[in-house]
Amino acid sequence: MIKKQKGTYDLYGSDAKKWLVITNLIDTIAEKYNYDFIRTPIFEASELFHRGLGENTDIVSKETYDFKDRSQRMITLRPEGTAGIVRSYIENKMYGDANQPKKLYYYGPMFRYERPQSGRNREFYQFGFEVLGSDDPMIDAEVISLAVNIIKLSGLEKIKVNINSLGDKQTRDIYRNEITNYFKPYINDLCDDCKIRLEKNPLRILDCKVDHELEIMKKAPKIINYLTQDSKTRFELVQKYLKILNIDFEVNSNIVRGLDYYNHTVFEIEVKLPDVGAQNVICGGGRYNNLVIELGGPETPCIGFAFGFDRFLLMLEQSEIKLPINQQIDAYIMYVNEEEKSSAIAIAQDLRMAGLKIDLETMNRNLKSQFKQADRLNSKLLIILNSEDLKNGNVQIKNNITKKEELVELNYLLHYLEEQLNDIEEQSCCDNDCNCDIHDFEQE
Ligand code: HAM
Repeated sequence: MIKKQKGTYDLYGSDAKKWLVITNLIDTIAEKYNYDFIRTPIFEASELFHRGLGENTDIVSKETYDFKDRSQRMITLRPEGTAGIVRSYIENKMYGDANQPKKLYYYGPMFRYERPQSGRNREFYQFGFEVLGSDDPMIDAEVISLAVNIIKLSGLEKIKVNINSLGDKQTRDIYRNEITNYFKPYINDLCDDCKIRLEKNPLRILDCKVDHELEIMKKAPKIINYLTQDSKTRFELVQKYLKILNIDFEVNSNIVRGLDYYNHTVFEIEVKLPDVGAQNVICGGGRYNNLVIELGGPETPCIGFAFGFDRFLLMLEQSEIKLPINQQIDAYIMYVNEEEKSSAIAIAQDLRMAGLKIDLETMNRNLKSQFKQADRLNSKLLIILNSEDLKNGNVQIKNNITKKEELVELNYLLHYLEEQLNDIEEQSCCDNDCNCDIHDFEQE
């Protein structure tokens, strides 16, 4: 038997249904915040990620899936979405549009060759939001609040929003010197990668997965203490707007992010759950004001974030959050002979095209087993066909909730079913007893 690759997984059954609910939530919230959907390719020229994310990041140096295509081009499966969006922004000259900033959202698979564990996969899904073209600190706060609101609507409550500032170029130039001088005496205590980082990109030492428990790491100087006055004022404004939006946050100087493109505001959102361990960071993001220039475009300040979809589902599961999954069908069509079957398939098509969720018998079961199947599918109504009734232009309808049975004229079937379904809907406002706010939010 051929098995799936390490670090990949199949999404099916109730997990797939939850995935669709969250996808719908993202579409709805993106609509309300006025973001446009964008899809970029899953593979890009390797250079995009090498230049965009930084040669010395763990992601680029250890985790990318690189290969040569049949024309010997160096190709990389995208490890994240931001670089591709920026490439698209530049290539499609979106910066030339008078309508700025560009507010874009996306979802799709990302690939990182990491050590797989619960909540960490080699193929994983992200959804992300990016604002390209605005440097307003108010946008930083709005983007963070958007991420928080997505989590809140899903029903997850115990979250912690960590924010930090990596300052401007001047801040980082001063800090780079500080950190180099700080780590130099400890060079022999650092892992081999960090020894190279100390020379090439000392800031990356701070998010090393090997050395992060070392005492010297914990005592290292913090960038927040080196912010220039401009960066400091900017960061204070972001915090002011976050307070206006009632977003609880903590300034955490350990948040440095694992990609080179960030400056100014960076943030991560953790979900506080006992069983998720190190994989409790559900969302990460920040400002990347220089990435468009670095990839060949005009000066364009940007900010955004991405969620780990897989982690999101895992945390909903562990928090025992029930999503509004539609586990029911409107009606199941039952029949026994060929003549009834021909009517069944035609009726099913008409009702589906009129907007109802319909299924019908396709396994040659006897009538008794068909009743059982209707129950398995949680069918609200049963449409029971028999040749005699059909000759007279009628069908038998059973309300599977009240158990009431009635003979209904085929001409009035749709109208009758809709009335019955309305009555059922009024009695139970949500199909299942979910404990999130998605249903209410989408109804509004
Ligand atoms: P990132 O922090 O590398 O940022 O990833 C964002 C989120 O993706 C993480 O917080 C985590 O939930 C999820 N994630 C990352 N790696 C894995 C994995 N191996 N398995 C499962 N989930 C994972 C970025 O990717 C940036 N592009 C975010 C961003 C957008 N910054 C600005 N705009």
